[in-house]
Amino acid sequence: MPDLSSDPQLDAFDIATLRAELKTLQADSAVSGIHVLENTPSSNDEAAQLARAGAPNRSLVIAQSQSAGRGRRGNVWNSPPGRDLLFSLLLYPDPDTQGIELQNLRLPHLVAVAICHAIESVLPDIVSQIKWPNDIYAQGKKYAGILIESASISSKPYFIVGIGINVNSLNSERPAELHTTATSLREECQHLIDRHQVMAAFLHHFDQLYPRGLVDFSSISKELTRRSLLIGHEISASLNGEKITGKAIGFADYGELILESTQAHGKEQRIIHSADLVRLL
Ligand code: BTN
Repeated sequence: MPDLSSDPQLDAFDIATLRAELKTLQADSAVSGIHVLENTPSSNDEAAQLARAGAPNRSLVIAQSQSAGRGRRGNVWNSPPGRDLLFSLLLYPDPDTQGIELQNLRLPHLVAVAICHAIESVLPDIVSQIKWPNDIYAQGKKYAGILIESASISSKPYFIVGIGINVNSLNSERPAELHTTATSLREECQHLIDRHQVMAAFLHHFDQLYPRGLVDFSSISKELTRRSLLIGHEISASLNGEKITGKAIGFADYGELILESTQAHGKEQRIIHSADLVRLL
């Protein structure tokens, strides 16, 4: 395998190359302004700053490295400089599409499916699975995560879709506690991957699904089930300190997980909107 660190060109991220990839996919309109930053605390914060400055819908911030990258549940998101994709897409929800809250519930699932489509379009041998609600896996290991944050500026709501995709990083570059649970696309297919191609593929596939998929959620829901790492399995989920267990049997209308547990009086179903921690039992 080539030594990535010996070739600085491999680490560069170039807006013109990304634009060319988007053109090839006829997806020029999937993104508006593109901002590439060598280092920032978090691309989500940069995108929020752009929203406050009135940046257009679908502005994109790509970070070559982050000093305070955030994951869900207050976790840190680590990635070595220039290897992976760390980006945030600014979206202003369409007030006519549906309630903002409901869009907020469905959006992460739509993003997860778009990541799976994008990766399979670039690397057809990788089979992506979704660990509800926000983690993307290949061969039982996590390679991407989604952190969606929302706020409003002058009463205008916005979403920041923050995504980290381990593209070219190696296990040796990750914290030891992730060695058995995380992977990268490069590790899965044993060759270096052009990040521009992956970035363009995501924008293209997201554009295909958004915003229509927020209204017509049935095909997204089918894919969530087909790609789910949880459905059909006994799981435990922790919800604000409460631990609940049961069999994951499906998804409800807004992507909530349906858990079935056996009680003294019979089977009981519970719908979970989000969970702090989900484990397969
Ligand atoms: C998770 O799996 O917990 C979500 C990880 C999201 C990480 C991305 S990297 C780009 C964007 N900026 C951040 O600070 N976080 C997201």
